[in-house]
Amino acid sequence: MTKDFLCLSDWSLDDLEAIFDLTRELKLKQKEGTPHQLLAGQTLGMLFEKSSTRTRVSFEVGMFQLGGHALFLHSGNTQMGRGEPIKDTARVMARYCDGIMIRTYSQDAIEEFAENCYVPVINGLTDLYHPCQLMADLFTVSEHKEDYKNLKYCWVGDGNNMANSWINAAAIFGFELRVATPKGYEPDAGVIARAKEAGAKLLLSNDPKVAAAGADVLNTDVWASMGQEEEQAEREKAFKGFQINAGLVKLANPDCVVMHCLPAHRDEEITDEVIEGPHSIIFDEAENRLHVQKAIMATLMAR
Ligand code: CP
Ligand code: NVA
Repeated sequence: MTKDFLCLSDWSLDDLEAIFDLTRELKLKQKEGTPHQLLAGQTLGMLFEKSSTRTRVSFEVGMFQLGGHALFLHSGNTQMGRGEPIKDTARVMARYCDGIMIRTYSQDAIEEFAENCYVPVINGLTDLYHPCQLMADLFTVSEHKEDYKNLKYCWVGDGNNMANSWINAAAIFGFELRVATPKGYEPDAGVIARAKEAGAKLLLSNDPKVAAAGADVLNTDVWASMGQEEEQAEREKAFKGFQINAGLVKLANPDCVVMHCLPAHRDEEITDEVIEGPHSIIFDEAENRLHVQKAIMATLMAR
């Protein structure tokens, strides 16, 4: 087990399933009102270079419920935003905090931070991956479906940080994953190659119908991620048809569930009707960010 949570592929199936077991236990305790202060007296430093609602709130609330404290920093208000090197920021923050969560652009930057930081570092999203979201997503499926590792998963939309993380998950958990993106918006080539090498059951397509046919889990995300705002108009053209709507849901398994990490652009990548419809487990998915991340923090940080 590594000291950090930067990429799902750094972790074994057994370790990730142990996090799910702890998630179930902590979720039950939180619902019952049973104290579970596994990180009493500890501080999580949270460093954001991009916006957030769910990640910031779920980590901060999660630390409080675990008996600790979370410290919110936006890079624009830190010396890092004025050019202090990552390695210096990492070395200093490690001296004050017991763990660090970072949301930033490049995966290399978070890796450099972790190399220079002797306390655990958690990836709260980079351009390449969003591993905490993936853990929340799979945990949510496991609550709604038996045998979540033997289902057919489908991704429709951009080959972005979420798609890359789903591909990593397919390689580790062994489920079938069909990914449909427009041409030119495929997931990261290195991520695909490593997953294939690891034996992932992965089908890449440019047709959402091919990906959705018979799927048990339908998944999508925004067409333009944070940092790509200026590409919005161009992407709206390229992604036409890459939408989860009632027609696409009809092609999937009649018991399928629909997911979205949020925030959603309603009636772009997913219709309002599907978000609010009977297949949607989107708000359970959002809630489980809290429970899964508590388990991740406890796994990495409990003494
Ligand atoms: N899904 C997710 O990470 O949401 P935020 O951007 O609101 O943190
Ligand atoms: N792909 C999106 C996910 C947001 C949680 C982004 O990076 O903006």
